[in-house]
Amino acid sequence: MAALEGAFPGLTPPEPPLADGGLVLRVPREEDVPWIVRGCRDPEVPRWTTIPADYTEALGREFVDETAVDWAQGTNARFAIVLDGAGAGMVGLHRLAAGQVPDVGYWVGHWARRRGVATLAARLVVDWAFRDLGLDALALRTMVGNAGSEGVAAALGFTRGPVRRTGAGDRCGDVDLHFWTLSRESWAGG
Ligand SMILES: CC(C)(COP(=O)(O)OP(=O)(O)OC[C@H]1O[C@@H](n2cnc3c(N)ncnc32)[C@H](O)[C@@H]1OP(=O)(O)O)[C@@H](O)C(=O)NCCC(=O)NCCS
Repeated sequence: MAALEGAFPGLTPPEPPLADGGLVLRVPREEDVPWIVRGCRDPEVPRWTTIPADYTEALGREFVDETAVDWAQGTNARFAIVLDGAGAGMVGLHRLAAGQVPDVGYWVGHWARRRGVATLAARLVVDWAFRDLGLDALALRTMVGNAGSEGVAAALGFTRGPVRRTGAGDRCGDVDLHFWTLSRESWAGG
């Protein structure tokens, strides 16, 4: 499938896959749907992200299909986080497009939290974005009060901006967000 105009040209999943120790990032597959549903049914996920509450198997399958299309079109680069062979969450770059600053996003299943999984997975993605994709800057949005996500953003070296209320047209809806930024120059690579 040809890349959309304005999307990131020639986007392909890194080969060999991004990995560190027992953690591997790969494109989500149909077999991941059960743990994706389990993870997204935790109320903390819809509370702090745009993922809908009451997540279903159908939404999980749709997500896997859309992810493949997004990779082919160069619009979003989403990875399943696999820890010691088991699904642990999602991480990715959203809104990839020429001249835009993409967002880093993530969720980790409630069964795998507070073990550094989000930080390590996001660090691999950030490093790939700067070194291999050659991006100049990355963004990250956290809803006000999301201490977990703020901890991850800070651990990665992102700088927190002031609170901004998004409009109804934004994919996040009408919420108060911190916009975080990280430049390639300031990226120490972890
Ligand atoms: C936010 C989230 C991704 C963190 O995942 P994680 O793998 O547990 O994060 P890490 O273990 O890498 O945490 C790194 C640091 O962040 C901070 N942190 C993480 N979770 C926290 C929490 N619930 N409360 C306070 N601080 C937290 C800590 O400083 C932590 O370091 P420590 O465990 O050594 O103290 C996970 O809780 C989650 O999926 N939440 C729901 C969805 C979400 O908020 N996604 C992000 C939207 S912007």
